[in-house]
Amino acid sequence: MPDRIYNAAGERIPRHIAIIMDGNGRWAKKRGLPRTAGHAAGSEVFRKIAYACRDLGVEYLTVYAFSTENWNRPSDEVTAIMKLLNKYLHESIETMARDHIRLRVMGDLSGLSSELQELVRETDEISAGYEGFQANVCINYGGRDEILRAARRYAEEYAAGDQSELNEARFASYLDSAGIPDPDLLIRPGGEQRISNFLLWQCAYAEFYFTDVLWPDFTVDELKKAIAVFSQRDRRFGKVKAN
Ligand code: FPP
Repeated sequence: MPDRIYNAAGERIPRHIAIIMDGNGRWAKKRGLPRTAGHAAGSEVFRKIAYACRDLGVEYLTVYAFSTENWNRPSDEVTAIMKLLNKYLHESIETMARDHIRLRVMGDLSGLSSELQELVRETDEISAGYEGFQANVCINYGGRDEILRAARRYAEEYAAGDQSELNEARFASYLDSAGIPDPDLLIRPGGEQRISNFLLWQCAYAEFYFTDVLWPDFTVDELKKAIAVFSQRDRRFGKVKAN
């Protein structure tokens, strides 16, 4: 569905923003700090940007926190990121109702520790209780993996006797993002210009915004700049005229 919200400056506000939070390691290295310090700084920036999205009228923010490939990083770095996610979920359980931030974790949850899985269950329960801005944090997530898991679920239902037609809407209902509109804007800080297995199905019509700013240096002004650029884009969704 096309985005339809406008801010006071007349700019279109994307309904759903996705972000690849890249550049934490380089940010830390530049300061002579361990990479894990970059991730800690990055998680604070995520918190700040989530509040800003909520306040700007964005309805969904989806961030790439840990990919299916990130398990191949040094074990101390993996442990540090998992600890940050654990801390973030714990804190969110306390604050999400107060701050009107619903939280959903996307990815292959079966690969997470039982403690993280329990925290995800608790945040889901709280989120179900109210409406409003939603942050989606992708953990043990890969776009191809998500599509494979969806295909397996369809095959299971088919084998169990539900052989009704498979169309885009039905396939999307098996994805981790079921019920969430596709991202309108994908932001990638950190200087790389690639999608890195993130939201492959969902980004079919997303506008891409790349910046050299490293994620821990990403500010609310950078977010506003990305939205202003997005607002100038002519989204045609395969048609001739803009919607
Ligand atoms: C990419 O930067 C970043 C990650 C793989 C981890 C992102 C994780 C966080 C920001 C912390 C936890 C998140 C939340 C939501 C609490 P990189 O390490 O690849 O950076 P580099 O390219 O400079 O090495």
